[in-house]
Amino acid sequence: MRGNQTGDWLERDLKHHLHPFSDGRELRELGMRVITRADGVYLTDSENNRILDGMAGLWCVNIGYGRDEIAEAAARQLQELPYYNTFFRTTTPPVIDLATRLSEITPEPINHFFFTNSGSEANDTIIKLVRYYWNLRGKRSKKIIVARDYAYHGVTMASASLSGLTDMHPQSDLPLPGIATHIEGPYWFRHGGDLTPEEYGIKAARALEEKILELGADNVGAFIGEPVYGAGGVMVPPSTYWPEINRICRQYDVLLIADEVVCGFGRTGNWFGSQTYGIEPDLMAFAKGLSSGYAPIAGVGVSDEIAGLLLDEGGEWVHGFTYSGHPLTCAIALKNLEIITREDLVGRVRDDIGPYFQGRMGELRDHPLVGEVRGVGLLAAVELVADKASRRAFPEEAGVARRAREYAFANGLVMRAVRDCNMFSPPLTISREQVDDLVGIVSRCYDRVLAKLESDAPGHDSAALP
Ligand SMILES: Cc1ncc(COP(=O)(O)O)c(C=O)c1O
Repeated sequence: MRGNQTGDWLERDLKHHLHPFSDGRELRELGMRVITRADGVYLTDSENNRILDGMAGLWCVNIGYGRDEIAEAAARQLQELPYYNTFFRTTTPPVIDLATRLSEITPEPINHFFFTNSGSEANDTIIKLVRYYWNLRGKRSKKIIVARDYAYHGVTMASASLSGLTDMHPQSDLPLPGIATHIEGPYWFRHGGDLTPEEYGIKAARALEEKILELGADNVGAFIGEPVYGAGGVMVPPSTYWPEINRICRQYDVLLIADEVVCGFGRTGNWFGSQTYGIEPDLMAFAKGLSSGYAPIAGVGVSDEIAGLLLDEGGEWVHGFTYSGHPLTCAIALKNLEIITREDLVGRVRDDIGPYFQGRMGELRDHPLVGEVRGVGLLAAVELVADKASRRAFPEEAGVARRAREYAFANGLVMRAVRDCNMFSPPLTISREQVDDLVGIVSRCYDRVLAKLESDAPGHDSAALP
């Protein structure tokens, strides 16, 4: 591209920039790529390589990159009203329009919306709301939130405490006490044993009931779950799981929180994962697809009952961010929702590209390394195994999914890795040909991982392999 420009960027990045979720030594030793442009489903790096973004950024660029309409809407808003807050008896048209539009697409009875800058802040806000609600109802001991192993709910002190990916905790002495307790989530491939997915779905849901009985319903304020797990490995719930969770939450007067940060805005073939799985949430966190990543905006959906209590009896709600309902981010989100609606991207995921993607991904099941392919809509994971019949996992140090991810990145595809799983979440605009390319690259990467494992095996003459 620009001669030594890449080298200069990399040098200054290493010198001054602290990266999220990155190992500094690895960045220094393995380097990184400078992403400079993007269009449709493709990224371009500073060396002019094109990379198919099989993750839509971080599960967020639902409408794809390079939408001029969004840039135009943003420019208009910046000229008209670049900023004003919604504290102290003021409001702005974009936030009113956005809350109104959200009330049309979220499941009933979610009709009230509070805005944040990130999904983590949305979940923090939810923790405060749960406490506020039960305090107002005079049930001050209902505070613990039941969350799930492998859950990802964010990185702030409180939302990381909700998260069930335990490697997020020790560096900062988390979880904070009194926030959450964790139960098994519906991970049939690893925990289902001899049960059918439907039988296991009931069993996994009953872990919530057992936890409520153990702690006492008077001490449990809420249950939180992602409709389909995201970063924890895209575990798709059996059909029996969420209906049973609905029943348990109602029976014990426990609020149900759907973390829709990944599943929201079309990814599972409905506007929200709650609609795909029949979840009846009292509170919802959403982010990412709300603006397709074009602006940092997220928020909380609140049921009529909770909002009614707060508004009528709560007095001043002592909570809010400087940028809650920022006019620029709201204008961008509104334009994004307009595009999703106009192009019927939700219907496309449900009826056309989603089934095609799942069908093509499913072909990977024949690969000797693949134990399971699971997914819904444009969300999928491939779980790699050392032995297909027994589902035996690789030793942790084998790092097979990470290795596959590195091969993919070097060969023009972004996918993600956690444990022995690779994960996929492409833009909702991806074409069939692009899905074919994605699956082809993944398959070739698994061939390479397999060849490498075989060449590394004791007694193998590795010199014989290229
Ligand atoms: C399900 C879920 N909840 C919450 C978050 C946190 O969102 P943010 O990174 O915007 O703070 C994420 C981020 O990936 C997520 O996947």
